[in-house]
Amino acid sequence: MISEQMTGRTLERMFGEISFTREPEGLYDPLRYMIAIGGKRLRPRLCLTTYGLFRDEFNEGIIEPATGLEVFHTFTLIHDDIMDKSPLRRGHDTVWKKWDADTAILSGDVMCIDSYRRMAKAPKEVLGEVLALFSKTAAEVCEGQQYDMDFEKKSSVPMDAYMNMIGLKTGVLIACAAKTGAIIAGAPEDVCEAIYNYGYNLGLAFQVADDWLDAYGDEKVFGKPIGGDILNGKKSWLTVRAMEKGVEGLPEALSSTAPAEEKIASVMELYGRADISREAREEIERLTVKALDSVRGKLSGDQLEVLATFARNLVGRNN
Ligand code: IPE
Ligand code: IPE
Ligand code: MG
Ligand code: MG
Ligand code: MG
Repeated sequence: MISEQMTGRTLERMFGEISFTREPEGLYDPLRYMIAIGGKRLRPRLCLTTYGLFRDEFNEGIIEPATGLEVFHTFTLIHDDIMDKSPLRRGHDTVWKKWDADTAILSGDVMCIDSYRRMAKAPKEVLGEVLALFSKTAAEVCEGQQYDMDFEKKSSVPMDAYMNMIGLKTGVLIACAAKTGAIIAGAPEDVCEAIYNYGYNLGLAFQVADDWLDAYGDEKVFGKPIGGDILNGKKSWLTVRAMEKGVEGLPEALSSTAPAEEKIASVMELYGRADISREAREEIERLTVKALDSVRGKLSGDQLEVLATFARNLVGRNN
């Protein structure tokens, strides 16, 4: 097994030393900028962690694909911020704000391609499997993002449709990260599949937590504007659950054209009355337990402990 400390040091080195093509600067500077402003590096950390359950040291065959997962994720953020009109990411200006939307589109495109280049450095024995999983995942993320936008225009969305949407936009990439580490480590197929399900459920918990933080987080720590989901008419877990409970006045509050601060406050007031925050925290807990249940019986006690610690750290996050 590889220790958490070793994984942490490896991640620092990976992103400290990462390089992108120099010119034209207008195309590649946003890539350097987005990687330099950080982020939690959840997906590469998970990929290295699942790999480390089965191996004792890292090599290029895992480092490059793990880096590719973060590069791909960062590309989706650049485009997501255009779609969500978000001015702030990781506590800094978003790419479309700092440069412009055209730059954000093209830099995002080249970043996506860069991620494929890195994934293609997986060991040749598993290359076909790694690329097939990654391509399927990448298309699913786009599907999830389309549902997310479609839902903005709907007055209400059923909980199962919401869960399907976040499974696509967020769950599958975290699942892919978890499974890619296991595949490259040479774990048996049923174990790889269980680890995929762990990642998927963890990804659902992660997105519900992101929705919660969008309303209840601290902008300075979260690094994104609080209340953005409410202003965008997003069908977040909080909205979908409040709708499901038939909270009176919610449709009016959500479609109100009042000034931003006022609108956010009135929706939050309704969430408060319906105890939505507590229910969201319970749902995050339920999904985290489900993630761990997915791998029970497939891994040793020590390996399960590593995945349990990973899940706990993630759920306790405030950024
Ligand atoms: C943000 O992902 C998008 C979601 C899927 C919620 P992260 O919360 O992992 O963003 P960074 O990489 O840490 O900035
Ligand atoms: C983002 O969901 C999912 C992807 C980027 C694929 P959000 O739109 O909720 O992510 P944030 O809150 O902007 O990070
Ligand atoms: Mg979005
Ligand atoms: Mg967004
Ligand atoms: Mg969000």
